[in-house]
Amino acid sequence: MYKVYGIIGYPVSHSLSPVMHNLAFRELRVKAVYGAFPVKPEDLSQAIRGVKALGISGLSVTIPHKVEVINLLDEIDEKAKEIGAVNTIINREGSLFGTNTDWIGALKAFQEVEVSLSGKRVVILGAGGASLAIIYAMITAGAKEIVVYNRTFEKAKEVAERFSVLAYPWEALYDAYGDILINATSVGLKSFDSPVAKEVVSRFSVVMDSVYIPLETKLLAIAKEENKITIDGLKMLLYQGVEQFKLWTSLMPPVEKMREAIYREVLTMEVDFAPRKGDKTA
Ligand code: ATR
Repeated sequence: MYKVYGIIGYPVSHSLSPVMHNLAFRELRVKAVYGAFPVKPEDLSQAIRGVKALGISGLSVTIPHKVEVINLLDEIDEKAKEIGAVNTIINREGSLFGTNTDWIGALKAFQEVEVSLSGKRVVILGAGGASLAIIYAMITAGAKEIVVYNRTFEKAKEVAERFSVLAYPWEALYDAYGDILINATSVGLKSFDSPVAKEVVSRFSVVMDSVYIPLETKLLAIAKEENKITIDGLKMLLYQGVEQFKLWTSLMPPVEKMREAIYREVLTMEVDFAPRKGDKTA
């Protein structure tokens, strides 16, 4: 019998997780399929009950459910508790177990480009679900100072308190400085906008964007022009997915083939969001 996995979020139509996980199932001849389930916030508890009723084996969880889903699960591990968000559910014989692999995805993205985080000053833009896991990753990797800027300052303060890091209002962003700049907002998603100007980018050595549609966001385009090390959003997506696959199947997935598949897929999706003639990076 085929096992069923999937992603819940809203919207999920552009999710690359089905491409990545179905390819891995096929390559390893695992009898399983992975689907995308759009679940509105008001339907989340029903959907989770459905996971049990239908015997769905595991789920990826994305925007906007990563925090709210916690209360609907039977058990979550220490990591998910500390981060305050779940991106992975495993159905253990009818008992739903939640964990978080986003933070590992963030760490591996930095490892891949051989950027050490130890002792670094890291500036994180955004205070949503993605930001929580990234902050946790930065703490785990030994960053010296972590600063969070968010449009809604109250949220930045809450997150900063939770992790004992620093919070600044969005209006102060022009003065931001440090070693590593990470965009964990949705600014730049399907548009050609950058959350920060060139002058700000120039004060950092490494720039990571968690947005991956388009793959080269305006922020990353500016960073490349400024000769910075850049990390695109698909790296974190790939590695969080690799960890999910390992948890669900106890098998090592074909990482390079998964990588190829998602990069190929995103390039076919992004034609509509590419910079138009006349768009400037500054
Ligand atoms: P995710 O799970 O990807 O983090 P999210 O929880 O919806 O998604 O968070 C989105 C983040 O992008 C938030 O930090 C949001 O700021 P607010 O807390 O003020 O809503 C940020 N964001 C979205 N649009 C933005 C914009 N136009 N300018 C600045 N920040 C923006």
